[in-house]
Amino acid sequence: MQTSHTCSGSRFGGKMALLLGLLCTLCLVGQVLGQDITHEEYLAQIQACPRECSCPPNFPRAVYCDNKGLKSIPKIPPHTWYLYLQNNLIEVLSADALRNATQLRWLNLNRNKITSEGVEEGVLSTKPNLAHLYMDDNLLSSVPSALPASLESLRLSRNRISKIPPGVFIGLDKLNLLDLQANKLMDDAVTEVSLKGLNNLVQINLAKNQLNSMPIGLPPTTTQLFLDDNNIEKIPAGYFKGLPKVAFLRLNYNKLGSSGVPRDVFNVSSILDLQLSHNQLTEVPLIPAGLEHLHLDHNNIKSVSGANICPVAVEAMEDSSNESVPRLRYLRLDGNDIKPPIPRDVILCFRLLTSIVI
Ligand SMILES: *[C@@H]1O[C@H](CO)[C@@H](O)[C@H](O)[C@H]1NC(C)=O
Ligand SMILES: *[C@@H]1O[C@H](CO)[C@@H](O)[C@H](O)[C@H]1NC(C)=O
Ligand SMILES: *[C@@H]1O[C@H](CO)[C@@H](O)[C@H](O)[C@H]1NC(C)=O
Repeated sequence: MQTSHTCSGSRFGGKMALLLGLLCTLCLVGQVLGQDITHEEYLAQIQACPRECSCPPNFPRAVYCDNKGLKSIPKIPPHTWYLYLQNNLIEVLSADALRNATQLRWLNLNRNKITSEGVEEGVLSTKPNLAHLYMDDNLLSSVPSALPASLESLRLSRNRISKIPPGVFIGLDKLNLLDLQANKLMDDAVTEVSLKGLNNLVQINLAKNQLNSMPIGLPPTTTQLFLDDNNIEKIPAGYFKGLPKVAFLRLNYNKLGSSGVPRDVFNVSSILDLQLSHNQLTEVPLIPAGLEHLHLDHNNIKSVSGANICPVAVEAMEDSSNESVPRLRYLRLDGNDIKPPIPRDVILCFRLLTSIVI
């Protein structure tokens, strides 16, 4: 079902454009219908559709079995790419039910009752195209294994995961998103050994776990690091030297006090968004000039001035070129002991500031 039409009618007159538009709509539908599926595959797919599920004829690679009160996974047809099983009562991720669905790319198992014991051997590793696995809101106690090397995103939030099997991520060179939010991970579970292999990780969410320390072993590709709502008290000096790409850093709702936070630890030029709300900081940490968003609300900071918050010397800014103007646009300082008004040197420093909450 290849087609070489271009969907642009701008060179043609009104009626022609309309006609072309219609043609293009038709050819798009054709492509959706096609989905690189042959007529034989299409028939096999529709015929094998489990009666509990729906298999829309215009989207034959998708099988919808969500919200059906299912206690087990039905036999999934062979040409399925997108499988929706969320919101059921499934306890076992059955290797047999998925045996023929070897082309699976997208598997949504959110909001079921799957335990780690219920993840049958080989059920995931035998799906060489599986890119997105959703298992939020289940009963897993460990990161499932073995995982296929094709995996790009793995969502496991709101389970009861306390273990990451050593080496579970080795070979997963495409994995860029790992969501482990709201589990039961303690410091000893998140280590260099358990995270080994995450060579292209971009986003990791470890919020709402039971961490007392900053995790070790995060890969240098990490750009978004979410650690909100743990019990972290300290950040080791130079911690972010190992994370040269970190741009979005969230540490809201921890136990960080200024004695546990080396003043220059966040002076890392890659950081764009720094969130330290609801901690116990008494001093403003040093920030990089490129920082755009800073959340320092609900700490114990008593005063703020250009001298302690401005990343460049305020005096030196009188006729400075634009590169040295700090990039901060959004600043929250409310919920501290700071009395208004906002000091003039703070305003002078952050010329790009569009919003400040004090
Ligand atoms: C797999 O496909 C074969 C051949 O079409 C069929 O006989 C069998 O029942 C299928 N098994 C499952 C588990 O879907
Ligand atoms: C913060 O980092 C920048 C760039 O790495 C550096 O030039 C500057 O001296 C640092 N600031 C302080 C106060 O250490
Ligand atoms: C500096 O910023 C101003 C306003 O944002 C802009 O008009 C000007 O061209 C910039 N100058 C340089 C050197 O980039």
